[in-house]
Amino acid sequence: MKDTSKTACQTSYEDIVEGLAEGVVAVDGALTVRVFNQSAEKICEMARTAVIGKPASTLFSKDSKLAEMLAKTLDEGRLFAEYEETLQRRFSGPLPVGITTSQIFDHSGAVSGAVALIKDLSGIKSLEAGSLRKDRLAYIGTFAASLAHEIKNPLSGIRGAAQLLSKKIKDEKLGEYTGIIIKEADRLDRILCGMLDFARPAKLTKKSVNIHKALDTVVFLTGDGLLPDAIKRDYDPSLPLVSADEGQLTQVFLNLVKNAKEAIRKDKDGSIRIITRMATEFHLIDTGSIGGKMALVEIKDNGSGIKPDELEKIFTPFFTTKPGGSGLGMAISLKIIKEHNGFLKIDSTPGIGTTISVYLPIAAEQG
Ligand SMILES: Nc1ncnc2c1ncn2[C@@H]1O[C@H](COP(=O)(O)OP(=O)(O)OP(=O)(O)O)[C@@H](O)[C@H]1O
Ligand SMILES: [Mg+2]
Repeated sequence: MKDTSKTACQTSYEDIVEGLAEGVVAVDGALTVRVFNQSAEKICEMARTAVIGKPASTLFSKDSKLAEMLAKTLDEGRLFAEYEETLQRRFSGPLPVGITTSQIFDHSGAVSGAVALIKDLSGIKSLEAGSLRKDRLAYIGTFAASLAHEIKNPLSGIRGAAQLLSKKIKDEKLGEYTGIIIKEADRLDRILCGMLDFARPAKLTKKSVNIHKALDTVVFLTGDGLLPDAIKRDYDPSLPLVSADEGQLTQVFLNLVKNAKEAIRKDKDGSIRIITRMATEFHLIDTGSIGGKMALVEIKDNGSGIKPDELEKIFTPFFTTKPGGSGLGMAISLKIIKEHNGFLKIDSTPGIGTTISVYLPIAAEQG
């Protein structure tokens, strides 16, 4: 009789590892990744084919803690149990995880590697923080509309009165004060509109949209105050239509190009490049789009860049580094892109510049 017990057992071990809800990352004695299960692919947003055989330190350069924990487990025998960390994922932003590590031993009992079990804690964390946050968001949502309404009316009264006053006032110095009232009233108005946009439940009117048309509108609206060739367009003319709400999408690109414009030097070599193409790097994530195909818009600037500690905050409502900023542009953009089943990715180096990549599902109906 054929002995199948060993094969069956091996297969089932692999199946078990593959089927675990926790991400499994195992490295050998040289800290080279040898096992990377399906859940690890999902949690880390990395394809197995791009990970196996590579050193953990380079793969998890953004999550040096994970590589460090594997190294400590391997070299010093230090074990971590449900150690709470935040993974900096490439597409969907930070993810709270619990990491448990252990050593792997060979037949002779010598340490031959280390394994990390990565548990997605977003559910638990959002349960902990979510109800509070949801309550707060619902609270903001409910009150934003009435509050904005209440403030907007007297605000436009104040603005109107200041405008009338500025016409009557001959004194230049006093004229400056009315100018400030008008400017600040406009700023408050923008913040209120932003709050309303953010709090309002989305009502998307999706159709097949030509991204280039939306981008051209944005370039037209933002070109003012820049040198003639400061915004370069590098479009792929064969790019299919995307499924989107045109107005909301234009709003996103406007926010992003405006940020790029605000980050660059207007007088000299500051430039923005808008590139469109089909995204080829999506094989992992089920996007719900046709065959998972996505269009990619990259907005690149050679401006100030974003410091690493600020990078994780830029989607937080009201986070701004600008004196007149409301800090809602990125939060609103992320919300809209998510509602479109798309992704936002940011690469930024201080002093070099920033690239924001927007991935959008292509439309089922072309034309
Ligand atoms: N392309 C970029 N280059 C450099 N910093 C950026 C860029 N995009 C965003 N940021 C940083 O992210 C912060 C948040 O951006 P966000 O668009 O949400 O708000 P804001 O631009 O400050 O204000 P506003 O509400 O007027 O857009 C900015 O203050 C800036 O520090
Ligand atoms: Mg902005």
